[in-house]
Amino acid sequence: MTTEHFDAVDVIRAKRDGLALSGPQIDWVVDAYTRGVVTDYQMSALAMAIYLNGMSRTEVARWTGAMIASGERLDFSGLSRPTADKHSTGGVGDKITLPLAPLVATFGVAVPQLSGRGLGHTGGTLDKLEAIPGWRAALSNDETLAQLEDVGAVICAAGSGLAPADRKLYALRDVTATVESVPLIASSIMSKKIAEGTGALVLDVKVGSGAFMKSLPQARELARTMVDLGTDAGVRTVALLTDMSVPLGLTAGNALEVTESVEVLAGGGPTDVVELTVALAVEMLAGAGRPAGEDEVRAALADGRAMDTWRRMIAAQGGDPDAKLAVAKETETVVAGEDGVLTRLDAYAVGVAAWRLGAGRARKEDPVQAAAGVQLHAKPGDRITAGQPLMTLHTDTPERFERARQSLDGAWEVAPDGTSEATAAATPGKLILDRVA
Ligand code: URA
Repeated sequence: MTTEHFDAVDVIRAKRDGLALSGPQIDWVVDAYTRGVVTDYQMSALAMAIYLNGMSRTEVARWTGAMIASGERLDFSGLSRPTADKHSTGGVGDKITLPLAPLVATFGVAVPQLSGRGLGHTGGTLDKLEAIPGWRAALSNDETLAQLEDVGAVICAAGSGLAPADRKLYALRDVTATVESVPLIASSIMSKKIAEGTGALVLDVKVGSGAFMKSLPQARELARTMVDLGTDAGVRTVALLTDMSVPLGLTAGNALEVTESVEVLAGGGPTDVVELTVALAVEMLAGAGRPAGEDEVRAALADGRAMDTWRRMIAAQGGDPDAKLAVAKETETVVAGEDGVLTRLDAYAVGVAAWRLGAGRARKEDPVQAAAGVQLHAKPGDRITAGQPLMTLHTDTPERFERARQSLDGAWEVAPDGTSEATAAATPGKLILDRVA
């Protein structure tokens, strides 16, 4: 029998009383939780104490290190290319990884994009790609390395060996109202990214109704904490703070978002998706030591080079890049009730609608519908007339329409032409709000 060095109750009490945890206490509690010696109910209490009382920079760094030490570390140092990765804190219509990974790989940088599935109102990258017939998310470490060397870009499921302590803790936080805590989010994300072994990392920290962080100061604090954790671990890390009050692009849902991503790779697509893809690519290339300007990056979308890499990336994982994607069995159109200018379209409400239509899951084990989701026909700033379609709802199970429509109640506003609200909405707000390095 192993002798335990600490008592979980003492650790919980210390954090409950606002004290800083010592390094050995943190190492022990994370390890003992992974081993099952600290129970879920004890870790729930500790997570709530951390949620309420926070952690110092030293504590977060140690907590992150302990989560990394709970599992394996990947090593990409044998590759002939430098590596760069991107992580988004999650938003509605956020399909950026799909065009971004092949785009960056086109410039000779390897992109190991180890991703997850969606939970709640934000979609998961793997769920989107699984809308492509034949595409396989699970790769071994050897397959990942071989594809990085050959194609340059891999989007696959993060293996269970990376930061297993986080896997267990994240599932617990999800059901104990302790997700929205800066130290817990920062250590969760960065433990996986540092264990993954990328050389450079660009964080897309979302701000607004569709994001974890609803305000700019909160998002800045999260970005600062993550950038410091990455930098201290030797990963060149920067963060862009980007608006998530409105959905990104015109689609939220798995196959719908793949189609929109392919439009971007074909040199078209919605302006906001292209702008963010290009901005993140420029940052990743700079971090990887292969700097390229915005015009050079846009050129790789326009001339088909990024599309070629996309096709090879999908095919390497068994997918057919030319396959017809699933189409929903049923659709319903939501129309505008009045004339004027659309001044607001709430990202969170659209995310919940897509989720209720079947694009997302309520529990980890739930299946998702490839074809379900929301297709937008107007964005804030657009002139609309009464009766004009605002969005189309897609699902295979029409009994879901009613709940989806309920989530859209009050989700948009229209101002009469010529009013100050209409004029303000017609001037597009900034998509990239800040940069933290
Ligand atoms: N994504 C993660 O991986 N962890 C969090 O805590 C939040 C978002």
